[in-house]
Amino acid sequence: EDPKVLIHSKETEIALEEASSILHQKDGIVAFPTETVYGLGADARKSEAVLNIYKAKNRPADNPLITHIGSLKQLSELIDSTTQKNKLKGDSGLWENIPLVYKPLIDRYWPGPMSILLPIEGTEGSPVSKVVTAGQSTFAVRMPEHPVALALILKSKAPLAAPSANASTRPSPTLAAHVFHDLNGKLPLILDGGPCGVGLESTVVNGLCDPPVILRPGGISLEDIQSCGGVWSRTVVYKPTDDVEKKSFVPQTPGMKYRHYSPTAKVLLFEGMSEAEANDILQNDYLHANQNTKPPKIGVLTSCRWNVEKFSDMVSVSMCLGRTGKEIRRNLFSMIRDMDEKQIDIILVEGVESDHEGLAIMNRLGKAASAVYRSA
Ligand code: TXA
Ligand code: MG
Repeated sequence: EDPKVLIHSKETEIALEEASSILHQKDGIVAFPTETVYGLGADARKSEAVLNIYKAKNRPADNPLITHIGSLKQLSELIDSTTQKNKLKGDSGLWENIPLVYKPLIDRYWPGPMSILLPIEGTEGSPVSKVVTAGQSTFAVRMPEHPVALALILKSKAPLAAPSANASTRPSPTLAAHVFHDLNGKLPLILDGGPCGVGLESTVVNGLCDPPVILRPGGISLEDIQSCGGVWSRTVVYKPTDDVEKKSFVPQTPGMKYRHYSPTAKVLLFEGMSEAEANDILQNDYLHANQNTKPPKIGVLTSCRWNVEKFSDMVSVSMCLGRTGKEIRRNLFSMIRDMDEKQIDIILVEGVESDHEGLAIMNRLGKAASAVYRSA
């Protein structure tokens, strides 16, 4: 049975009704909060609406979208378009449509920041618009945990195709204000649900191959996935070089070839380096060479171990991302955007260990960075 939607405030009720009615139009798009980042959503069955997402974000057409569902029943019906058949199957029929390999993951981490790849039938069979999957033979789906996202999906009864609600190449939005900044004038409505708790995107998992592959590290860690046992204990993290080295390696993330999370400032990422080492690199490679031009504005983002006093007096802004992986990931995109607001030219970032939450954090920082420095 579909979960009940309980809405406590009249204001929220009105906002959700307005959002649903936009989603029911043939080309309607709406921005909404999820626990990871804000999404830019459209009914995944409406090609015209989904095309509008690509247009608003200026997203390359070959980068597929994640579909958001509110219940396993809704997912099952989406996979098996003959809803009639589903009704006859009853509840026990759910897992006839969803590959069983995902059951331990879904039981543990849905609703939550994990997207899984499902096979998609040939053209006529599936109600999911081909624009969503960008011609892939699989489609990515997740059940978000944010109450506003769930309420919107269940109220509109629409599976929502939704990428992050940033302009393409910009850091993902973790506040409604970030969406407004990037997309003002390009969409009719932003549902404001406050700051996103996780702060970076869902983990994208492909369990249709052995070993399973994490295509994008995110809110659920590699260790979390491996702890599900069975085939999942062998889960590996996708590396872009795999495609080149092993021609037979099928699963690929189309998103990987694009520029990502790029602030206007130049980001320098330091792994396991002291303040002095980072400072030397800054002086020698970035300041020394340009002595005749106006000095750049320098910002520092730490993981609270660097002592910013030890940097040259060139540093004009410093912020601590947080003391724990969870704090750091929650603040990361927002503080990178703050640095842009302060018109910083070069951001020095103190990296973290690449385990648990750190893997996704370092993945995003690596993509934002124009140079990465590791201690010898
Ligand atoms: O947390 C999230 O996942 C957020 C919120 C809004 O739910 N959404 C999000 O969507 O990050 P987007 O479009 O920014 O990222 C989707 C990622 C891309 O890297 C895309 O290439 C990959 O998922 N993807 C989607 N469908 C795929 C497929 N069939 N095969 C491989 N990768 C896929
Ligand atoms: Mg994105």
